[in-house]
Formats: sequence, structure tokens, C-alpha cells
Amino acid sequence: MQSKVANPGLAAAGRLKIEWAEARMPVLMALRARYGESKPLRGMRIAGCLHVTKETAVLVRTLRAAGAEVSWSGCNPLSTQDEVAAALAAEGTSIYAWHGMSTEEFYWCIDKTLELKPTLTLDDGADLIFRVHNKFPELAQGIVGGTEETTTGVHRLRAMATDGALRYPVYAVNDAETKWDFDNVYGTGQSSLDGILRATSVLVAGKNFVVAGFGHCGRGCAMRARGLGANVIVTEIKATAALKAVLEGYRVLPMDEAAKLGDIFITATGMKDVIVERHFASMRDGAIVCNTGHYDCEINLKDLARLSGERTRELRPNCDEHLLADGRRIYVLAKGRLVNLAAAEGHPSEVMDMSFANQFLALKALAESKGALQAKVYELPAAQDQELAALKLKTMGLGIDVLTPEQVKYLDAYAEGT
Ligand SMILES: NC(=O)c1ccc[n+]([C@@H]2O[C@H](COP(=O)([O-])OP(=O)(O)OC[C@H]3O[C@@H](n4cnc5c(N)ncnc54)[C@H](O)[C@@H]3O)[C@@H](O)[C@H]2O)c1
Repeated sequence: MQSKVANPGLAAAGRLKIEWAEARMPVLMALRARYGESKPLRGMRIAGCLHVTKETAVLVRTLRAAGAEVSWSGCNPLSTQDEVAAALAAEGTSIYAWHGMSTEEFYWCIDKTLELKPTLTLDDGADLIFRVHNKFPELAQGIVGGTEETTTGVHRLRAMATDGALRYPVYAVNDAETKWDFDNVYGTGQSSLDGILRATSVLVAGKNFVVAGFGHCGRGCAMRARGLGANVIVTEIKATAALKAVLEGYRVLPMDEAAKLGDIFITATGMKDVIVERHFASMRDGAIVCNTGHYDCEINLKDLARLSGERTRELRPNCDEHLLADGRRIYVLAKGRLVNLAAAEGHPSEVMDMSFANQFLALKALAESKGALQAKVYELPAAQDQELAALKLKTMGLGIDVLTPEQVKYLDAYAEGT
């Protein structure tokens, strides 16, 4: 077992964080208990590239308990929780991750995990799977399948599959209802506001809060910002999404207009160059700009550096001031990377419980697939969503109603009229 982490001496602190998360992830823990003896992942070697947080540690422990050998790297240079990485390394996981790594080190870490010669891959943003395809294609033939955690990664893997470039089957974990409609909405909503508050400590009430993208993540951010008393403005490129935002009571504007009004901006689109030079040029003094969408390309920081002549200083942790020629100041949080992971702790454990239960079950399904799947992007079974949601409700002490046989019959009754 090999590892590279920031400080192995942080392991004890990491173990406490993981213990906190385990107490809030009952569904994943139930799967660990259920499959700890039968070990359906025995013989599997899993390379994972996903934010190293306390919740991810619970997943890694569960994969290992089910018999897998695991090698891990973080999927974002600023999201690794160093104490969690140290704890995983101390308990025998091969892990290459530390907070604040360079882009070069980021790819070095992924390459190190691939020395395991994986039979399964797990991605958040598809960097690992791209690395297999582009740099180590000889590994693909030994890989039974992979999973993808997030929206942008799934988009790209579907594009690869359409072009016939995908070499092995992938489960789109992101698209499971118990992932996309919960993690992206409530997880991103709460943790992004948490990141903004930790980095700035500003009063959100009364501020103009601009959300770019009213998809799952944007909806969550808008909802939580409004809950704190902000005037939410939404920007969109899709008419139906914009219309939903209007009917939710938000103001919808093009970014060119919103840029002039916003006090706080958050991008949640998966698209590059959502905020560019002309937007920075029209922003108010003191505007706060951050991203919770894809990697660090939604806000064009090169444009901002050009405008500020690189007159930049770190004013608070995760909060850089950029001084423009006319004296206006623009504050960028977490260097334009995911604010919820870089400036806060990522999604709360309770919501990652279902996301990672889906990851676990997807990897188990791949391990048991015995070559039956093609090199395509697959959805997880809808019935699994109902099972996981029912289990989650049970752990919350909540029950739901069940249709009577007469009601089931009524659902399909086309001959009887109303
Ligand atoms: N921060 C996190 O922890 C976290 C969690 C989950 C997903 N993500 C990432 O967040 C991004 C969004 O994910 P999602 O699930 O909300 O996707 P989604 O497809 O549900 O929503 C994205 C929305 O952005 C809109 N959009 C695209 N380009 C735009 C532009 N230039 N201006 C305004 N709107 C635009 C789209 O029309 C769409 O409505 C993805 O990159 C995803 O990988 C981040």
C-alpha cells in the first residue's frame, strides 16, 4: 500500500470526522453491514477520483468492507480534507490527495491510482476515465465498468459513447433520482451558502444574489439564498428553466443586466465563461463572485486578472480581492473553484448517504455483470431509488402510505371511466 497525503499526523482528527459522518449515513452503513460478510466486491480493484471528504471516507470504508482493494485521488485540487486523507492512509487505503495541489500534481495523483490496474473506476467529473482512455488505453480491457458522480461528467461520457469512443460501461450515478434531486439540490444549496458564509461572513439578507443556471444545483442555491432573505436573480440559457425560475418568484435577467445589480454571484451551470470581462467591468464595488458548478472554468479569472492588472490580495481565507483600475473591488471566493467544497465541507453527510449508496450499488452491479453490459452509459434502475428512499425514510423514523389492491386496480382501469 502506498500513499501521499499532506500530513499523516492528522489521522486521529480525520477518524473523528469520519465517525461523525458515519453516524449520519445510515443507508450506506446498512449496505456495509449487509455486504460485509458476503463481500460482493472481493477481487475487485477500484480506482476512485472523487473529493476526499469525510463522507467519501465512509464510502471508501464500505467498498473495502465489501472486499474491494481501493486506490483514491481527489477530483479537485482544493477539496481534499487533509485529516480525512491521513485517516484513510493510516487504515491502509492507497490514497494520493492533499489540499492545494497544482494541476500537474492533480494528474500525477490520478496516474498513481491507476498503478492498481483497476477493474472498476469511480469518477466525479470523468478525469480518471479520460486518463484511462487517453493516456493508459491498455488498462481499459481489464476494466469491467465505471461510475460517474456528477452532471458534467455524465454529459461528457454520453458524448464519448455517442462517438463510439467509450471503452467500457458506465453507470450515470448522477442521474439517479435519489442522487440528482437531493444531492445537487439540497446538498449544493446548503453547502454553497455555507461556503459563502465561511469565506465572507456577510449578511445575505437584503442582498441581490445572482444564481447563474437554474438546474438542480442552481435551484438549491436560489432556494437557500431566498431563505436567508436575499433578493434572488436567476440567469439562464434554457427557456423552460428560466420560466420555472419566474414561476418560483425569482427575477430572471440576462447576465449582462444581472452583472450590474448583483452583490453576490454564484455560477452553477457546468458551462465555461459564464462570467467574463464585460460582466466584471459592470459589477458594483464589493461584488462577491463564486462558483459551485464545474471545476474552475465558469468564472473567467484570466479576464479579471487583465482588468485588475493582477492587483490581488488574499483578504480572508478563500476570499481574494481584485482591485480594478477605477478603485472598484471584486472578491472571488475559493479561486473560482467549487465554493462548497473549498470553503466549506461539501455536502452534508445526510444527503451524501443516498448518493454514495447509489455509488456502492452501481459498483456492485458492475462487479456482478459478468460482461453482460456494453460500452454505454447506463441509468441505475428506478426501483433502486424507491428502495433507497424507503430505507432513508425508515432511518428517519418516517412511514408512508401503501396503495390498497383496489387502488392499484384503479390506476390501470381504462374500461371503467372515472
Ligand atoms: N458543487 C457541487 O458540489 C456540485 C454538486 C453537483 C453537481 N455539480 C456541478 O454543477 C453543475 C450543474 O449541475 P446541475 O445538476 O445543476 O445541472 P443541470 O443540468 O440540472 O443544470 C444546469 C443549468 O445551467 C443552465 N446553463 C447552462 N449554461 C448556462 C449559462 N451560460 N448561463 C446560465 N445558465 C446556463 C442550463 O440550462 C441548466 O438549466 C455541473 O457542472 C455539475 O457537475 C456541483
